[in-house]
Amino acid sequence: MLFKKSISKLIAEAELNGQGTLKRTLSSSGLIALGVGAIIGAGLFSLTGIAAADHAGPAVVLSFIIAAVGCGFAGLCYAEFASMIPVAGSAYTYSYATMGEFMAWIIGWDLVLEYALAAATVSVSWSQYFNQLLVTLGVEIPTQFLHGPWEGGIVNVPAIIIVCLLSLLLMRGTEESSFVNNILVILKVAVVLIFIVLGWGFIDPANHTPFIPVNHGEEMVKSGQLSFWSFLGSDDFGHFGFSGILRAAGVVFFAFIGFDAVSTAAQEAKNPKKGMPIGIIGSLIICTLLYVLFSYVLTGLAPYTEFKGDAKPVATAFAKTGYTFLNTALIVTIIAGYTSVILVMLLGQSRVFYSMSKDGLLPRIFSDLSKRQTPWKTNLIFMVFVSIFAGFVPVSDLGHMVSIGTLFAFTLVCIGILVLRKTEPNLERPFKTPFVPLIPILGILVCVLMMASLPVESWERLGIWMLIGVIIYFVYSKKHSKIRKEYAAEHKTEE
Ligand code: ALA
Repeated sequence: MLFKKSISKLIAEAELNGQGTLKRTLSSSGLIALGVGAIIGAGLFSLTGIAAADHAGPAVVLSFIIAAVGCGFAGLCYAEFASMIPVAGSAYTYSYATMGEFMAWIIGWDLVLEYALAAATVSVSWSQYFNQLLVTLGVEIPTQFLHGPWEGGIVNVPAIIIVCLLSLLLMRGTEESSFVNNILVILKVAVVLIFIVLGWGFIDPANHTPFIPVNHGEEMVKSGQLSFWSFLGSDDFGHFGFSGILRAAGVVFFAFIGFDAVSTAAQEAKNPKKGMPIGIIGSLIICTLLYVLFSYVLTGLAPYTEFKGDAKPVATAFAKTGYTFLNTALIVTIIAGYTSVILVMLLGQSRVFYSMSKDGLLPRIFSDLSKRQTPWKTNLIFMVFVSIFAGFVPVSDLGHMVSIGTLFAFTLVCIGILVLRKTEPNLERPFKTPFVPLIPILGILVCVLMMASLPVESWERLGIWMLIGVIIYFVYSKKHSKIRKEYAAEHKTEE
């Protein structure tokens, strides 16, 4: 049988918890700010250049649009869930209520790839910009302590330091207040706007020609010299041309990750039924507009080939303008913006594991609270876990893992909407995903397509990670599940 959480029970529990602990303080604009705060980060300021150099050239602009469309479909599905089940835990909780415990476990386990590894990825980019700042101040970190062993170094020390500092901050119970977040968001959006406005006048049209660099494999398929399937398995696939645009979409999709963080704040929203859809969709629309303009200017300022292996393309591109004196201010703002993303991701990770542990699917250690009411042991464990990845793994590998893991979670959320419309057609839905089943199906298709465009190694790693998860589920979680225990106890009394 399918072990599911009852939706009415979840809502009742949330309302009970809401008394005295979580305050409903976030307005719709506060929720949009939260979304934008979690969204704009390394995806934009670091991966755009790499995606252009390796995969799409200037057409990375189109990749952003494709990724935004995929996120839009998934975002509409998230909005229905978040307005209907306005409780913490996000996708994990939704799937527990719709598709049962096993799928909930799968999604919760998968979310580690999203939250913990996103924190690691952003920390690595943080270290690149931080180093750039130190260089302008005349301080130099030896290069072997700025890169992991796969990138010619030993360990990325600044990345580890920022992960540790922010984890310690979370352990102390420092809550990211809406006020501080709003300031960071204003700064972040300002930096993007300044870059677009000032950079626009320095765009060199030659850098945008050809807009879609040629992929020789694709040309050979067109002229019949190569079969599509041979092309699909070749090294040419994903390097420029249309397949490159698609693969770059899978990469820059990272830049949109975080809009689902809005749904984790459902319990703190003043009016979740209205605020959730506005927060999720609103932050997505704002970010899409900014991203398209930003990537257009970035690839217009310098030839895309210059961004190869460059984790701080903003500095590289901005050097082409006449405003280099603003460089340091831009870098400081970007560093501040990254810091908020890392913090929100680490926070999101501990919330998901906290919920899973409360449900008995993970050991109690993950929901142990300190005197300051923080799951500090989870924070500590993830401090070590995230530090290892941040210190040693190359940024592009990390980014791919996060993208594939998150796309998988989005796919499951879209499936969840289809399932719930069938199984619980009469539930109150303050926000309804339009054109069901079309939108969820399109969401699934676009997400799967973006996943398909990611390198084979990412699939292998996703497979291994999920396999480990399935083993843990059957060895530990299933036996300790609270719902199963409650069910067993009820049936014993009946007998
Ligand atoms: N979307 C977030 C970023 O790009 C994770 O940093």
